[in-house]
Amino acid sequence: MDNLKSSRVVIIGTGFVGSSYAYALLNQGVTDEMVLIDLNKEKAEGDAMDLNHGLPFSSPMKIWAGTYSDCKDADIVVITAGANQAPGETRLDLVEKNTAIFNKIVSEVMNSGFNGIFLVATNPVDILTYATWKFSGLPKERVIGSGTILDTARFRFLLGEYFDVDSRNVHAYIMGEHGDTELPIWSHADIGGRPILRYVEDEQSKITKEGLDEIFVNVRDAAYHIIERKGATYYGIAMGLVRLTRAILRNENSILTVSALLEGQYDLDDIYIGVPAIVNRNGVREVVELDLNAEEKEKLQHSASVLKKAMEPVIN
Ligand code: LAC
Repeated sequence: MDNLKSSRVVIIGTGFVGSSYAYALLNQGVTDEMVLIDLNKEKAEGDAMDLNHGLPFSSPMKIWAGTYSDCKDADIVVITAGANQAPGETRLDLVEKNTAIFNKIVSEVMNSGFNGIFLVATNPVDILTYATWKFSGLPKERVIGSGTILDTARFRFLLGEYFDVDSRNVHAYIMGEHGDTELPIWSHADIGGRPILRYVEDEQSKITKEGLDEIFVNVRDAAYHIIERKGATYYGIAMGLVRLTRAILRNENSILTVSALLEGQYDLDDIYIGVPAIVNRNGVREVVELDLNAEEKEKLQHSASVLKKAMEPVIN
């Protein structure tokens, strides 16, 4: 991506997540051009018109409802299209129907001559990111899933509330499947540099292991609780996607827990799964390999095995 060229983000799917992401992208002024694509062309056109009418309150950028040919000059193509979880449905329940949808979408994008970075948000995101990598033939570093970027944000928010500290000073990761087998990395969680587990050991503090465990359960099950109440989740994931987009377009080398391909890291191979990774204009620069404790290693292996099993019927 040269500096004079306008940056372009193409959003495939203008449902709740896609349109929330578009709205957040506009408000944060991250890209020069935004193209909306949806099977429902009128929805994409309506969203583009609605967003354009907000530009006088923001800063100039080009927004239009487009076609797959607009992907040719895109820096990033973000896929949010696909079926959503119904109440009580797990993300893995969506694997068959969404893999079939992705096969079509990815080949349409690649037929345009696209040579940028894919960001995948549709669930089950780890499996669909792997599918996008396979279907596109792009190098692994240029196919990234939102992974546990939102789970980590939920974790940091709830820990911030629990410790009464700005969540931006809470450093803690959720790794693994973006789903029921995700895991908290307590061994590397700190508040402003003080390990969280130190507070549990400290007699004086009111922090308890039960309290921390409850926080993790609320993180892991957050989507179910939101879906029960409002039918879908979209603002949190949209903000996570904007954060990821900014790290790419601004070449930030930021560390974010995304779904990245492992090739031996964490004793895992040939799987996309949520791990801390350095993200810049070329995609995933490298996976950050933490020294996990025995319990965390075991849980990550379990999470990976659940993903591999769910992937079997759809990805050969
Ligand atoms: C959630 C969706 C993005 O966790 O899977 O809210």
